[in-house]
Amino acid sequence: MPANPSSPDGVLTCPDEAATAAFAQQLAAHLLRHPALADAYLTLHGDLGAGKTTLVRHLLRALGVQGRIKSPTYAVVEPYDTPSGLALWHFDFYRFDDPREWEDAGFRDIFASPGLKIGEWPEKAAGLAPTADVAIHIEAIDETRRRICLHPGSARGQQLLQPWLS
Ligand SMILES: Nc1ncnc2c1ncn2[C@@H]1O[C@H](COP(=O)(O)OP(=O)(O)OP(=O)(O)O)[C@@H](O)[C@H]1O
Ligand SMILES: [Mg+2]
Repeated sequence: MPANPSSPDGVLTCPDEAATAAFAQQLAAHLLRHPALADAYLTLHGDLGAGKTTLVRHLLRALGVQGRIKSPTYAVVEPYDTPSGLALWHFDFYRFDDPREWEDAGFRDIFASPGLKIGEWPEKAAGLAPTADVAIHIEAIDETRRRICLHPGSARGQQLLQPWLS
């Protein structure tokens, strides 16, 4: 389900979590080299347990986030600062079901602020959140193997995914 079917997609198979971590580290390194790309919205798609939070945790660590990285399942959003000065927000919209919360909880303001926004279950905030710059689809092949498909949804997303697109 490409965000934009005419865009080239990147596909990688991660045989284990270490490979997923390595991909997250490469993505973080690319982001840190190109801070202008960091005001992006990345979405994560995939079944329960596919590995969305796991990938985000490795990405946040690689961006320099210290301390505990909680899954935002209940809080919906967890904010972070990184040593490079990048602000970022990790959303999990799985339990998001009241559109009024978009305004009341300050989500509109977050999306209007500079920094990286990352969203799990973005379809639950459809019509409220902007179009993703990058959609990352994760599919579990077995216990440890994951197929990761990268879909750019904007020019910024194309640049962000440039190392992985054919
Ligand atoms: N190659 C891999 N990449 C990512 N996670 C993996 C891999 N192999 C095994 N795992 C395991 O799969 C599980 C993924 O759980 P995780 O909470 O990240 O899923 P999720 O997609 O965020 O689910 P939910 O929709 O419930 O939020 C973790 O226990 C992780 O250790
Ligand atoms: Mg999760």
